[in-house]
Amino acid sequence: MDQEQQLNGAMRNVSINTNGIAAATKLNGHSKVSGGGGSGGGDETDYVRTVEQPPSAAATAANAANKSTNAATAAATATATNANAFQIQTAASAADKKKMVYELCQQLLLSDEQMQELTYRILHELRRGLAKDTHPKANVKCFVTYVQDLPNGNERGKFLALDLGGTNFRVLLIHLQENNDFQMESRIYAIPQHIMIGSGIQLFDHIAECLSNFMAEHKVYSERLPLGFTFSFPLRQLGLTKGLLETWTKGFDCAGVVNEDVVQLLKDAIARRGDVQIDVCAILNDTTGTLMSCAWKNHHCKIGLIVGTGSNACYVEKVEEAELFDGTDNRKPHVLINTEWGAFGDNGALDFVRTEFDEDIDSHSINPGKQTFEKMISGMYMGELVRLVLAKMTQNGILFNGQGSEVLFTRGLFFTKYVSEIEADEPGNFTNCRLVLEELGLSNATDGDCANVRYICECVSKRAAHLVSAGIATLINKMDEPHVTVGVDGSVYRFHPKFHNLMVEKITQLIKPGITFDLMLSEDGSGRGAALVAAVACREDILNSK
Ligand code: BGC
Repeated sequence: MDQEQQLNGAMRNVSINTNGIAAATKLNGHSKVSGGGGSGGGDETDYVRTVEQPPSAAATAANAANKSTNAATAAATATATNANAFQIQTAASAADKKKMVYELCQQLLLSDEQMQELTYRILHELRRGLAKDTHPKANVKCFVTYVQDLPNGNERGKFLALDLGGTNFRVLLIHLQENNDFQMESRIYAIPQHIMIGSGIQLFDHIAECLSNFMAEHKVYSERLPLGFTFSFPLRQLGLTKGLLETWTKGFDCAGVVNEDVVQLLKDAIARRGDVQIDVCAILNDTTGTLMSCAWKNHHCKIGLIVGTGSNACYVEKVEEAELFDGTDNRKPHVLINTEWGAFGDNGALDFVRTEFDEDIDSHSINPGKQTFEKMISGMYMGELVRLVLAKMTQNGILFNGQGSEVLFTRGLFFTKYVSEIEADEPGNFTNCRLVLEELGLSNATDGDCANVRYICECVSKRAAHLVSAGIATLINKMDEPHVTVGVDGSVYRFHPKFHNLMVEKITQLIKPGITFDLMLSEDGSGRGAALVAAVACREDILNSK
C-alpha cells in the first residue's frame, strides 16, 4: 500500500483492513445500469447562465437557523466565542445535538435542482474549453492529448513508465504480452517536501536519478527502452511528446516549470547524468492512462476518471469538436480530451454550492483560487474538510462535550483514509470510528458523538461522489453513445466503501434515458496506461515508416 493510499482513503493495517479489501473487490464489477432524465445545454458567454442562482449553501444554512424556534438549534450557528451559546450546547440533549449536526450539514447536501444546475454549468465550461475563441478564458481547459487510437489488444513489448502526480513517484517496467497479459515491476520513490516546492531542475534530476537506479536494479541499464511518462498535472500538449505545464496542483510548486516543455526537462535531466539511454515516446495524464488501460480489455471504455489525491477526467471526443486540435492526421475521427475539470468553479461557477469550509480549505491552500472543484472532491482535501466541520461543531459544544484535542484542531491531521474507515463500520457499530477518535486524542466520545462524526463523514464523501457524478453524467450525455464504460482509479474511489454505489445511483439519475454505463476499476492505469500509450505510439511509428 503506498503512501497516497494510506493518506487518501485506504484502510489502515488494523483488523478493519479486511473490510476495505472486501469493499474494494466488490467495487471492481461492471454494474450495468440505465439512466433517465436530464441533459445539458448552455450558451457561450464568459460566465455561467444568467438564471436566478440558487441561494448559496451558507445562506441556506443561515436561513434554516433563523427560522428555527428552538433556542439550542439557533445557538448552534453562533460562533464559538460566544460563551453563553457554548453553555447552551453542552447542556443540550443528545437528540438536540443530533438535530444541530443535521442542520449544519444541510449546506453539504446537493439538491436535485442543484445537481441539474451543475451539469448545465459543467457542460457550458467544457464547451468553452473546447472552442478556440473561448478557450483562453475557460477554466476547464479541455486539453487535446494527441492520443487518437485506443489499444487494440495487440500491443506487445517491454516499456518503461514514469508516474508523477500523486503523493509518490513511481518507476515501472512493463512487459505487455499475448492475450491481454502483462508483467509489471515497479518501485515507489518518495518525493521529499523540499523537492515538491523546490526548483524544477532538482525535481527532474531526482526523477532521472530514480530512473537510473531502477534500471540498474532491474538489469535494463544498458538497454534503450521506450518510455511513457504519466505526468498528472494540467499540460498544454503540443504533440504526443511535447507538453507545457499550465500550472502545478496537489501541493507541487517547483520553480521554472510552468510554461516549459516537461518532456524536454526530463530529457535534459537524463542527459545531465549521461548514463542511461531512453526514448520518451509519450507524455500523458493519469486519466488518459486509466482510460487506455481499461480500453485494452474493454472496447466500450471511453472515459477515464481519477478520484485520488486530485480529481480529473478525460474522454473520447469527435475531432471536429476539439477546435484546438492541430493533429496531422485528421482522418481519424476521435481524439482524447483531458478536461482538467479540477479547475471548474475557479470563476465562481460553484459558489452556489460552496460552503464556509470550502473557502477555508482554499484560503489555506498552496494555490488559493485554483482547483475549486478538485478541492471539494479529492483525497488531498476530503479529510481536512471533515476536520473543519468537526472542529466547528466541537467549538460550538455540539461534539465531544465541547472538549477537542490538539490533533483535532491542527490542520492536515485528519487523514482522508479516516473517512473511509469510519464509514466502513456497520450501522450502529463504531469500532473504526472509536479507533480513529483515539488517534485524534478523543477517547471520551459518546455513541451519540460517534454517530454524528459518521454522519459528517457521510455528508462530505457523498457530496464528493455527487459532484464527480455530475461531471461524468455530463460527459456521458455529451458523448451520446448507447453504452459507455468509465475506467476509474484513485485512492478515494478505490477505498471508500460507498463511493462507487453513490456514483452509480447519481449518474443513473442524471443521464439521458436509454443510455447505459458502467464503472470499471482500472488496474494501474498510470503505469500500464503509460506503457500502452507508448506502445500505440510505437505501433504508429512502425506503420508510418512502412
Ligand atoms: C491534475 C490532473 C490529474 C488529477 C488526478 C489534478 O490535480 O491537475 O492533471 O489528472 O489531479 O491526478
